[in-house]
Amino acid sequence: MSRNTFHDLKISNIRPLTKQSVCISFDVSEDLKPAFQFTPGQYLTLRANIDGEDIRRSYSICSSSNHGALEVGVKHVPDGLFSSHAMKLITGATLSVMPPQGCFTAELGGKNHYLLVAAGSGITPCLSIATSVLEAESESQITLIYGNRSSSSMMFKAELNALKDRYTERLQVFHVLSREQQDIELTNGRIEGDKVSAFFEAGLITKQTIDAAYICGPEEMIKEVSSALTGLGMPASNIHFELFTTAKSGKKPTKAFESPIEDTTEVSITLDGTTQIFGLDHENETVLAAAQRAGLDLPFSCEGGMCCTCRCKIVSGGAKMDVNYSLQDWEIEAGYTLACQTRPTGKSLTLDFDDA
Ligand code: FES
Repeated sequence: MSRNTFHDLKISNIRPLTKQSVCISFDVSEDLKPAFQFTPGQYLTLRANIDGEDIRRSYSICSSSNHGALEVGVKHVPDGLFSSHAMKLITGATLSVMPPQGCFTAELGGKNHYLLVAAGSGITPCLSIATSVLEAESESQITLIYGNRSSSSMMFKAELNALKDRYTERLQVFHVLSREQQDIELTNGRIEGDKVSAFFEAGLITKQTIDAAYICGPEEMIKEVSSALTGLGMPASNIHFELFTTAKSGKKPTKAFESPIEDTTEVSITLDGTTQIFGLDHENETVLAAAQRAGLDLPFSCEGGMCCTCRCKIVSGGAKMDVNYSLQDWEIEAGYTLACQTRPTGKSLTLDFDDA
């Protein structure tokens, strides 16, 4: 079964988390269960036709990977087309859902101390990682630094409290609030590099015990926290991050063409075992934009270089990306690229989505 195919899944439950966020649970039929197995930290791409427009958005799975439940957390974004739509969904409704994807993952089965740093809705993949790890790895520990404006805007507050009660010895949670005064000064304000370093300096986290860090939130926070952790001696390869934002990249590469393109790059794409070739105006188009113009249904979601739904491998030819917020260095070295950000640098480019 193709990992790029959308499937209609029934919503088995939808419950409010805060005034501005909900948790959506899906029913997965027996025949689709293998396709929807996931690794903690992965996300789902949801699709809906909203006012005649095909809208796709990626949301991280928040449930544990150990029990088969499939749930995502959705936070309402002002003027957000999909999140506004999601706030009106009801139990029994159906959504089009792509099987789980993403590399912001924790492979279970070891004995580790994981540092999770999340801001706002960045908690969703971190909750899945925390729950899955604590359940599956009896000797592993989790330290979570979770930033919010206030306790009322905190997603999954009850779930985190329940997890804390269940795993008192192996889970420690620090809530950092920017608009609600707390007794301990360190936990007031926003999550920044200096603040994370201060947790270590205060002895609340011991750097020698941390094996891996997972950071999910806005770009600035990711940069600062990553840099603070590398400054403390953590190898960059042990720091994983996922950018959490809904804005598309500022660059608007797509241009509509009504006549045949003269100056083109020949792009060959293999997807689900089928290879198709089309022309791309390398002055004006990304691979995704040109493929859509040519009528190909490539997998995509954010169109901003953040989700990596459009990840594919360069088989031959040169290419560069406008922006990249999701591929790690090793993936780029291995030849992976994001179709929504890729512009060829030569006269031909061959990409493989089946080797992604
Ligand atoms: S569609 Fe999200 S990175 Fe390309």
